[in-house]
Amino acid sequence: MYSSIDMKSYDAYEPYISSYTMNIHYNKHYKKYLDNLNNLLSKYNYEYSKEELVKNIDIFPIQERDNILFNLGGVLNHELFFSILGYGEMSEIFKNKIDEDFGSFANFKEEFIKQAKLLVGSGYTFLVLNKDNNLEIINVANQDTPNSYGLVPIMNLDLWEHAYYLDYQNERNTYIDNFFSIIDFNKVSKIYEKEIQKNI
Ligand SMILES: [Fe+2]
Repeated sequence: MYSSIDMKSYDAYEPYISSYTMNIHYNKHYKKYLDNLNNLLSKYNYEYSKEELVKNIDIFPIQERDNILFNLGGVLNHELFFSILGYGEMSEIFKNKIDEDFGSFANFKEEFIKQAKLLVGSGYTFLVLNKDNNLEIINVANQDTPNSYGLVPIMNLDLWEHAYYLDYQNERNTYIDNFFSIIDFNKVSKIYEKEIQKNI
């Protein structure tokens, strides 16, 4: 049984994301994925973290795997997205890595926004750490998680309509442009630094 993460504050990201959107996103969408996941897993015994469960999805009967993975991805993706919203500054270590892999922060931002605008349908744009310990920007469909591809999620942008439609309607590109005003890069830096510690 997995428990929910806390939401710091629904109105902390105004005016870029309204408290109304955050409330529905957290209490209706995220909680639904979590409830579905816990219900699906209730008849099984396992002792995996959510990330480990992605890698060990084949312990479940084949006809249940897609449904478990969809809801598991829904939980993981939302927990990352909610946790990286905020206003913190980037660490020197993470900033140096961004400069190394993208040339500059400006290039990284431009590339992330470009990829987000290219995503078709529902999904996410992710910054991930690949097997060579380099940062990459990828798009995933629906509730796919980069963990399924051996990639470590560092930050993401939710591009499902439920994430922005109440505030932006069809102006999806404005939502994407505004995202960089509400990223807690201190938190993103910590996620990155924790991951590279594991690989040393
Ligand atoms: Fe969402």
